[in-house]
Amino acid sequence: MPSTSFAPPLDVAGHRVLVCGGGTAALAPIRVLLAAGAEVTVVGPEISPTVADLAARNRVRVHARSLLPGDLDGVALVVPAAGEAVADEQALQLARARGVLATLPRRAAYPAAGPETRSGTGEVILVGGGPGDLSLLTLGGLDAVRRADVIVTDRLAPLAALEQARPDAVIVDVAKIPRGAYTSQQRINAILVEHAQSGRTVVRLKGGDSFVFGRGGEEWQACAAAGIPVTVLPGVSSATAAPALAGIPLTHRNHTQGFTVVSGHAPPGDAGGTVDWAALARANTTLVILMGVATLPAITAELLRHGMLADTPALTVADAGLPGQFTVRATLADIAVRSHAEGIKPPAVTVIGAVAGFRPG
Ligand SMILES: C[S@@+](CC[C@H](N)C(=O)[O-])C[C@H]1O[C@@H](n2cnc3c(N)ncnc32)[C@H](O)[C@@H]1O
Repeated sequence: MPSTSFAPPLDVAGHRVLVCGGGTAALAPIRVLLAAGAEVTVVGPEISPTVADLAARNRVRVHARSLLPGDLDGVALVVPAAGEAVADEQALQLARARGVLATLPRRAAYPAAGPETRSGTGEVILVGGGPGDLSLLTLGGLDAVRRADVIVTDRLAPLAALEQARPDAVIVDVAKIPRGAYTSQQRINAILVEHAQSGRTVVRLKGGDSFVFGRGGEEWQACAAAGIPVTVLPGVSSATAAPALAGIPLTHRNHTQGFTVVSGHAPPGDAGGTVDWAALARANTTLVILMGVATLPAITAELLRHGMLADTPALTVADAGLPGQFTVRATLADIAVRSHAEGIKPPAVTVIGAVAGFRPG
């Protein structure tokens, strides 16, 4: 029976850990080591988009090259995670020669062939993975990850779950990073369809809920058009989880009788925007804004222009449920400036309304 996650063999908090490999095999170990408080360095000839994103968001040092003996200087633990037997063995031997403890992640088994092609049509399971921490992935989602032949994942998914994939499962990184690496939705749809047409069980593992700004509907349609059966496993959306993890109830009998979730991707005035910001300013419900880090100045200015009170409580929570979770409390008038000043970066959720000032005591 697999353990619940890759457990480092020692208390790595504050210690330097070297992850050898920058591909998909390194995703789960990096996520787990960061959660354990390690200072992580990644060395590998190829760095996957999600590894690069994890590194940028968590002060992980990355060297896009082969392993050098000097990389082990001052390192407490080596984790060979190339997902390739020869490279992992080299890392183990180097660690042994230098007297540094080394441990392989659980998935480090090396099947000779790629994913099996089976007769008949496979299936696609759209798994909402929650905001990023393994504990917020549903039991059904975890079970699907454990069974999958292929897992198509991206940067906001609960990456520690990949430790529990079958050793022969193929992991495909299809990150869409704001202003960074990008896999088109068309390409993602094609990957799902191609693998399922080869008879495989394909898990599309995403952050939050697949149907809340997750493009799960488009993936479902693409699969249905190709005659592929789809199962949807709902996930815990960051729209509700991020506020909750920051201690904010989105509704409260004394304050508000509802909440509205909007995307901030298209700011007020944008030709592609369909949100009625004037109506939201008057709605008297909690406003939850996803994908709004860059557009928060424009959004808050528009809400003020339409009469929302400047001292309405507001709060931004970034990296909710992840080791770097960070909250900024302010008002409608200054949440954009304060979030920027505090260096808030995506992923972040902003809550505007009376409940944003909630304190339990
Ligand atoms: C493309 S949307 C996907 C939303 C996702 N399907 C959900 O239900 O949470 C990405 C946005 O979700 C929010 N988000 C996702 N994970 C988050 C997290 N761990 N902390 C804060 N916000 C998060 C951010 O607003 C981010 O820009």
